[in-house]
Amino acid sequence: MTGSPRFIVLLGPPGAGKGTQARLLGEILGLAHVSSGDLFREHIRARTDLGRLAQGYMDCGQLVPDEVTIAMIRNRLKQEDCRAGAILDGFPRTPAQAQALDQMLVDQCGCKVERVPYVKIPESTLVERLSGRWTCQQNGHVYHLRFNPPIVPGKCDLDGSALYQREDDREDTVRQRIRVYLEQTAPLVEHYRQRGVLVEIDGDGPIPEVSEALVRALQAA
Ligand code: AP5
Repeated sequence: MTGSPRFIVLLGPPGAGKGTQARLLGEILGLAHVSSGDLFREHIRARTDLGRLAQGYMDCGQLVPDEVTIAMIRNRLKQEDCRAGAILDGFPRTPAQAQALDQMLVDQCGCKVERVPYVKIPESTLVERLSGRWTCQQNGHVYHLRFNPPIVPGKCDLDGSALYQREDDREDTVRQRIRVYLEQTAPLVEHYRQRGVLVEIDGDGPIPEVSEALVRALQAA
């Protein structure tokens, strides 16, 4: 590993494209992609106690309690692939999680969150994006029926596994997730702006254009 570890937090509402962009950015920058939502879904698939607990909150569009979420991310960031840093997608989502992340980074590498790209997008687009999203069973690769379709319908281009629609992408649950985002996560925009690490990204363009804007913003950092 050369240079200081790089920890980048992607902020934005559900459906803004955080997962799509975090995967691409991780490959471009050589950083691990750490998604709290994907980690919870892995626990649900593995039928762990944490998975059972998380599912109750996720299915109704509520946040999983801070304590368990923070412990899960703390363990994930200790893994070898995060030594050079990580793109954090979906964490932190509350002020308590943001504070805990600061402490984790100090403990782990004496470092700070380097940059927080805030992916902005109109609310009307979010529902359209989430209702057309299909996700692969095996590795969570994300597609959209219209904007990013798989080559073979119903199959992941990358690992061939079947695609499914997330339970929490039903319109009423999506609207609840947006409400929860506005109440509990949106205040983090000001938190990171005041610390001088926030950069606003227009998320309403095609996927490659959003990626280019993100890479430019991170290179300028
Ligand atoms: P999580 O899985 O993190 O969901 P989310 O934040 O709601 O975000 P999404 O995954 O829905 O959207 P995204 O922004 O990643 O968009 P994507 O790239 O997929 O969390 C799920 C649940 O877990 C939460 O509700 C909560 O219960 C729990 N949870 C997770 N983290 C937690 C935490 N820290 N604390 C407590 N609880 C937590 O794109 C969406 C669609 O749009 C796709 O189909 C994609 O192909 C398409 N698309 C992407 N970009 C574009 C583009 N530029 N143009 C056109 N289409 C696009």
